[in-house]
Amino acid sequence: MGKILVTGGAGFIGSHTVVELVQAGKDVVVLDNLSNSSEKSLDRVATIVGKKIPFYKADILDRDALEEIFSKESIDAVIHFAGLKAVGESTQKPWEYYENNIAGTLTLVDVMRKHGCKNIIFSSSATVYGNPAFIPITEECPKGQCTNPYGWTKSMLEQILSDIQKADNEWNVILLRYFNPIGAHKSGTIGENPNGIPNNLMPYITQVAVGKRDHLSVFGNDYDTHDGTGVRDYIHVVDLAIGHVKALQKIEEKAGLKIYNLGTGHGYSVLDIVKNFEEANGVKIPYEIVGRRPGDIATCYADPGLAKKELGWEAKYGIREMCEDSWRWQKNNPNGFED
Ligand code: NAD
Ligand code: UFG
Repeated sequence: MGKILVTGGAGFIGSHTVVELVQAGKDVVVLDNLSNSSEKSLDRVATIVGKKIPFYKADILDRDALEEIFSKESIDAVIHFAGLKAVGESTQKPWEYYENNIAGTLTLVDVMRKHGCKNIIFSSSATVYGNPAFIPITEECPKGQCTNPYGWTKSMLEQILSDIQKADNEWNVILLRYFNPIGAHKSGTIGENPNGIPNNLMPYITQVAVGKRDHLSVFGNDYDTHDGTGVRDYIHVVDLAIGHVKALQKIEEKAGLKIYNLGTGHGYSVLDIVKNFEEANGVKIPYEIVGRRPGDIATCYADPGLAKKELGWEAKYGIREMCEDSWRWQKNNPNGFED
């Protein structure tokens, strides 16, 4: 296989995936508009892997820029991370989310097919299951009602990419439904770097631990779970990244259309995470129970059996390492990629 284009490759999951791809011997090109990331993450990636990664600062909505990249580089497959992902913001700016994520992907896919590149791995999400019909969630679980425009962009893009593959079986389309990625590379040099107040649990906890926030607000303790707080399937971002390397092998075998859950199969509550973080790192996380967050569900965890069977992939890291690695990144980089 020729080159792999990683869109959104400067971001959290993208940067970790670039490391694993290069270490697996793949030839990688990165595209990112840096709207939610820093080019410095790619400098850090270069240090980890010992070589510079070709980078295009470009937008997936910019057809001319995409044309230029596909003309210059012989790209055989795209791993498509680029997209806006803040759930709350998507309810305030639905147009921007549909434009960026859907129009952006349509433009990307059109340029790809014009250049004869019909292999794509797409970042989807467990959010497409809505309030899941059953737990653990297999890929057979029906898709549900999303509670926000961000979730709908994922659900709709799954449909769009599936329809494109069904109409032209030269396409290989792999939809990866991620559960809750946390953790960071062992080096502590790349990691999640949210703008402003974090929406997600782990970056909020690490910002409390580093003294940037006073305490964690736990959104509800009256769910039907073992301790009343929400249960999720947290997965180490390096495991998730390796899942993409495995998916690429599947593409090389002419996958057609495939859908895989990428999770661990274990559910942890908010308070389980607080406790594990405190024990792993010897820091105290003060918290307060507040009301439920609108749109949240009680429990969400994967049955990751299909990915194991068909991709030979399963998550290796446990919750302790996820907590240790998240903290190492935050502690070493209290201001993210800013010096
Ligand atoms: P991220 O924001 O760190 O990475 C996304 C990257 O895409 C950023 O670097 C951003 O600058 C870039 N980008 C956004 N719009 C772009 C555009 N129009 N053109 C070019 N680049 C653009 O987020 P992440 O957590 O690494 O997520 C990667 C993908 O995985 C996203 O599609 C996200 O929706 C999906 N996902 C994330 C999670 C999660 O919890 N982190 C869960 C499920 C799915
Ligand atoms: N939570 C808190 N306090 C916080 C933040 C979160 O109690 O400050 C709780 C939530 O209520 C939930 C759990 O921690 O019970 C996890 O919340 P996150 O916001 O970290 O993650 P979500 O499961 O809500 O959503 C994440 C991504 C979505 C993605 C989904 C896939 O944000 O983009 O996982 O499962 F679609």
